[in-house]
Amino acid sequence: MIDSSTRLYGLVGHPVAGSRSPWVHNFIFETFDIPAVYLSFNVESDKLQDAVNGFKAVGTKGFNVTIPYKTDIIPMLDRVDGTAMQLGAVNTVVYQDGDFIGYNTDGDGLIKVLERRLGPISNQRVLVLGAGGAARGICGSLMAGKAKAIGIWNRTEQKAHQLKLELETRDANECKVAVISAPALFSEYDLVINSTSVGMEPDIHESPIDVRFLSPQAVVCDIVYKPHQTQLLRDAALGGHDVIYGIEMLIEQGLLAQKLWNGLSDDALEPVRNALIREFEMLHK
Ligand code: ATR
Repeated sequence: MIDSSTRLYGLVGHPVAGSRSPWVHNFIFETFDIPAVYLSFNVESDKLQDAVNGFKAVGTKGFNVTIPYKTDIIPMLDRVDGTAMQLGAVNTVVYQDGDFIGYNTDGDGLIKVLERRLGPISNQRVLVLGAGGAARGICGSLMAGKAKAIGIWNRTEQKAHQLKLELETRDANECKVAVISAPALFSEYDLVINSTSVGMEPDIHESPIDVRFLSPQAVVCDIVYKPHQTQLLRDAALGGHDVIYGIEMLIEQGLLAQKLWNGLSDDALEPVRNALIREFEMLHK
């Protein structure tokens, strides 16, 4: 029941229609009897600062940030956690003792999903499809997780070279970064992550690559979750590849946000993760 003690959480982005974050968080509040509600706010860019001020004024306990504001929000916060600063992107904000503190749970969420399915990321050679904002976040997280190698494939190859340069100056660890210029090189990778919007509704029959170029053992992961089974994942499953669905990453970053907001433990959240995945699959059969 919503009453005068109900706490407010939310999402800011533009657009936010169709986001599944309210579903994830309200499900968790209900499961744990947390007196809170999560709403989404479609905010124009010239009103972002007003929205942040308003959230603080009304005592919002936390909020998520989505496209296109994950970087723009940084100077509007009181503090930003080291990992989020390194990635240059905040997706979760926590209210604590009068301050808004920014975190990034996208990266940790991705690594958690991958490691649960594949074991240590340090053994993985990863092919990232795309070189935009989402790819930048994914590559940064893979480097922080010490992936063995990253290959970047992008329709506009020049942007892949730019991202490679940026990653190499940011982090000088052992991870080898390469620009992939021909599909014949896809077979060198153990894991493929689509970070492009190709295959997203309404263009549900499009796939960013021909999966026949992949190594037969490669695992295929898509960050697109609308539709649940993208053309890429359908082709990959038909070709005998293990697949990882986009909704798993969305749910995982949401669970990590709840750990920050409400101190929920991994053990408590484990059954919730499974229930959310089951419900999503039922809704999108
Ligand atoms: P985001 O922040 O979601 O990553 P973005 O920065 O606009 O969005 O990046 C979109 C990515 O999807 C880019 O890698 C883009 O490729 P280009 O750099 O060549 O534009 C890729 N992309 C979008 N539509 C595509 C399509 N139809 N075919 C192949 N790649 C596409």
